[in-house]
Amino acid sequence: MKYSTSFRIWHWLNAIVILGLIGTVLLRKTFLSWRTNSELIMLELSKIDISITSEQAKVIAKAIRSGMWEWHYILGYALVALVFFRIYLYFKDNSKKESFSSLDMHKKAVRISYYIVYATILFMALSGFTMYFYESLGLAKETAHSIKEIHELVYNILLYFVPLHIIGVFVAENRDEKGIVSTMINGKS
Ligand code: HEM
Ligand code: HEM
Repeated sequence: MKYSTSFRIWHWLNAIVILGLIGTVLLRKTFLSWRTNSELIMLELSKIDISITSEQAKVIAKAIRSGMWEWHYILGYALVALVFFRIYLYFKDNSKKESFSSLDMHKKAVRISYYIVYATILFMALSGFTMYFYESLGLAKETAHSIKEIHELVYNILLYFVPLHIIGVFVAENRDEKGIVSTMINGKS
């Protein structure tokens, strides 16, 4: 057994949660963008002779967005639980992974990309929760805003990692690592 059952469960739950979190961000920036929707609301209302200020339209557009964005926080809690799960696995897991020094150059690079992703996930969970609880933590709104800018910047690492990782395992599966995907499903190597 290469990957233990717990490790595989962690991998797939983590994949679902991260794809979900990225999904909420993409929706926030496109279909549910308050900028686009507040203009749309004003335009459509003006067609039926109702005029509202851009400030009022913004409030409505944000209200439409909020039910969806709630999922950023629900999945955010799930991510924190998965971070703890992964820390537990670091100490207690019996998956058989090759040591870093025994890997060839390519696999070393892949392994490094995983280390970067683990650090990224940890940072996103920490910064996300610091923002979420900024008032209880006694932080100023400006501080929370600065954290948000870094949170948003670091998000790009995941945005690139996810498609590259998926393309990477597809390529590996078709070249010299047949069964790499099923290993992450059935655990055998
Ligand atoms: C958002 C989605 C995903 C994230 C964040 C993610 C994350 C990771 C991480 C961190 C590892 C390294 C595990 C370790 O050895 O410590 C890994 C390995 C792996 N993942 Fe994913 N994964 C995602 C989606 C997927 C998908 C969709 C597939 C399949 C198509 C996949 C297949 C694999 C495979 C086969 C490995 C083992 C690769 C190897 O031996 O180098 N992952 N994944
Ligand atoms: C993989 C994990 C995560 C990713 C990729 C991610 C991504 C993002 C991005 C890109 C934004 C900026 C959205 C925008 O302004 O357009 C954002 C905002 C935010 N995220 Fe995350 N996030 C993650 C995890 C978390 C977690 C664990 C929490 C904790 C609850 C969290 C809480 C927040 C908060 C409070 C905001 C600011 C919302 C606002 O200003 O209205 N995030 N996130």
